[in-house]
Amino acid sequence: MRLSRIAGTGHFVPARVVTNHDLAAVMDTSDEWILERTGIRERRFTEDGVTGTDLAVEASRQALSEAGWEAGDVQFIIFATLSPDMYFPGNGVLLQRELGLPGVGAMDVRNQCTGFVYSLSAADAYIRMGMYDRILVVGAERHSAGLRMDDRGRDTAVLFGDGAGAVCVDVTTDPEGSRLISHHLHADGRFAEELCIKSPGAGRKPWLSADMVDDGSSHPFMNGREVFRNAVTRFPEVIMEALDGQGLTPDQVDVVIPHQANQRITDAVTKRLGLPREKVLSNIERFGNTTAASIPIVLSEAVKADTVQRGDLVCLAAFGSGFTWAATLMRY
Ligand code: COA
Repeated sequence: MRLSRIAGTGHFVPARVVTNHDLAAVMDTSDEWILERTGIRERRFTEDGVTGTDLAVEASRQALSEAGWEAGDVQFIIFATLSPDMYFPGNGVLLQRELGLPGVGAMDVRNQCTGFVYSLSAADAYIRMGMYDRILVVGAERHSAGLRMDDRGRDTAVLFGDGAGAVCVDVTTDPEGSRLISHHLHADGRFAEELCIKSPGAGRKPWLSADMVDDGSSHPFMNGREVFRNAVTRFPEVIMEALDGQGLTPDQVDVVIPHQANQRITDAVTKRLGLPREKVLSNIERFGNTTAASIPIVLSEAVKADTVQRGDLVCLAAFGSGFTWAATLMRY
C-alpha cells in the first residue's frame, strides 16, 4: 500500500525583529494591548527587496537537507501563500526556478491560514495514487509588504509576520510507521468577506485604481470578533473529527500544532480539548501570525528541538480566511 510521510522539515524567518514597541512608534497601539489580546511580543519583517519566494528557498533548502534529498529529487512543488510576489504567476514557479528545477510541476494553493494543511493533503493524495514519490510542500508569507502601518491598519498590522516553512513528503509502504494518516478539509464561503484583502481583484473594474488605496481595500480587513468566535469552535471540531476517525481521544495525541492565529484562540482550544498546555505548541510570541507558514515553522522548530520525535502522533489544525478550517493527523 502506498502512503506518504514527512521526510524532512525546514524553516526560515528574516533577521529583522519588529517588537510591539516598534509598532507603537508608528501607530496608536501598545505592547500591553497586543500582548494581552494576541500573545504576540514581536514578529519578523523582511528587508526591502527580499520576497516570500526568497524566504521559501531558504526553508526548502533546510528541508531538503534534513530529508537527505538533492534539489533534483523533487518531483513536484506545492506552494501555499496569500502574499505572492506577483499577482500571477504564483510563487511555485519562482521557487522552482530558484531551486533550478526546470520542467518540474509547481502549483500554488491560495487557502490562506489553512493553505499548508490543504497543500499537504494534496501531496499525500498525489503520492498515494502513484503520481509522484517526492513532493516539496512550502508555506511562505511576506505580510510586511501589504500591512497598513498607521492607525487605520492597527487592528491587523499588529498580528502578522513574515516567514517560511517547508516539508519534504515522500512515499512509504509501512502502515505502522511514519505516515500521514488523514486530512479533514472544510470551508464556509458565507464568511468570505469577514477576513480578506479585496483589491486588486477582478470582482471590480478596473481591478486596480487609486481609490483602492484610499478606501483601504488593498490592505487586510478583519472582523476580529467573528474570526475569534468561529475559530474557537472550528479548531476543536476539526481536531476531534480527525481523532474520532481513528477511534482516538485527545489524551492519545502527543502533540497538537495549531495554526498560530492568536494565543487566546490557542488557549481556548487547549482548554476545550482538555489538553495539557505543553502538548499544544506555540511560537506566536516570537513570530506573530505567519499564515500559511505558521504550521510548518512550528513543526520544523519542534523537530529540531526534539519536541516532535519520530513515532509521535501529531495533529496539525488550522482556521482562517474563507472561512476555511482543516486538520491533518500523522505519525511523524
Ligand atoms: N491597538 C490598540 N487598540 C486597538 C488595536 C490595536 N492594535 N486594534 C483595535 N483596537 C481597539 C479598537 O479600535 C477598539 O476600540 P474602541 O473600543 O474604542 O472601539 C478596541 O481596541 C477593542 O477592539 P475589538 O476589536 O473589540 O477588540 P477585541 O477584544 O475583539 O480584540 C482582536 C481584537 C483582533 C485581538 C480579537 O478580535 C481577535 O483575537 N480576533 C481573532 C483575530 C485572529 O486570530 N486573526 C487571525 C485569523 S487567522
